[in-house]
Amino acid sequence: MHQLYLLLRGPLALISFIVFIGGVIYQIIWFFNNTKVQEIPKNPGLLPSKKEIKSFYPPEDIKKLTKWEGSVWSTQPYFTILTSIFHILVILTPIFLLAHNILIKQSWGIAPPSLSEKITDVFTIVVLCFGAYFLYRRIFLSKVRIITGGGDWLMFFLVFLPYLTGFLAYHQIFSYMPMVILHMFLGELMLVCIPFTRLKHMIFFFLNRFYLKSEYSFFKKGNRVWN
Ligand code: HEM
Ligand code: HEM
Repeated sequence: MHQLYLLLRGPLALISFIVFIGGVIYQIIWFFNNTKVQEIPKNPGLLPSKKEIKSFYPPEDIKKLTKWEGSVWSTQPYFTILTSIFHILVILTPIFLLAHNILIKQSWGIAPPSLSEKITDVFTIVVLCFGAYFLYRRIFLSKVRIITGGGDWLMFFLVFLPYLTGFLAYHQIFSYMPMVILHMFLGELMLVCIPFTRLKHMIFFFLNRFYLKSEYSFFKKGNRVWN
């Protein structure tokens, strides 16, 4: 069992980081290869004037109102606040976890900053509560259940099982060694899967919102369209 521990702690951890970073780079390149800057027709004679274009659009106050009313902040305000808290915790916890950063220091000599174990333990419990809430929504709310497919379940388990096993290992609730080995395996599996499963929303959220031309783009600067 100790051999397996060393394998997961050493070479497999390194491989999972490399696949994760390589996968993110691959997806960014894929995005730019499959989109292009939208071409504006050259013949200005056929285009409406700026004044005419302006007259097509509703006045500023109506625009603001519809933007607000069409956004998730208006249709699902509580869920939006909750999911924002969930996302902050789900990202910060593993990055600032003392146990992780000690392993990084031992393996690669870098000592990233860590939060106290009490704080990350509370964060972990909060993330697990979110897991229970998301599970409840996916099973019992028909409007969520009807759009839930295999990819969503895969994402759910990939995200929450590392949290659950990390928590069980930290508190030594079951036999420590098998639990921490399972945790490392699931953590590494999650890292490797991020760029290739629904978890890639982490990358595409920013690419889509900043680069694609659509009503959902941030700052209206996006000028790319799909090939
Ligand atoms: C690269 C692979 C990983 C390794 C080698 C690893 C290793 C560890 C170790 C050794 C512990 C401490 C157990 C103890 O206290 O003795 C731990 C705890 C934990 N890990 Fe990981 N981990 C990995 C990936 C992840 C990932 C990807 C996540 C979540 C996204 C995660 C979340 C946690 C959590 C939440 C805890 C427990 C915190 C607590 O309840 O206090 N780990 N991990
Ligand atoms: C920083 C980049 C990220 C952004 C901008 C982002 C954004 C989003 C958005 C817009 C949704 C859909 C709305 C919702 O259900 O909340 C979502 C869902 C979700 N995200 Fe992220 N996400 C990011 C990173 C992550 C990471 C790193 C994880 C896990 C490791 C994650 C796990 C999830 C899960 C599990 C759901 C589905 C929740 C449900 O079952 O309803 N996200 N994310």
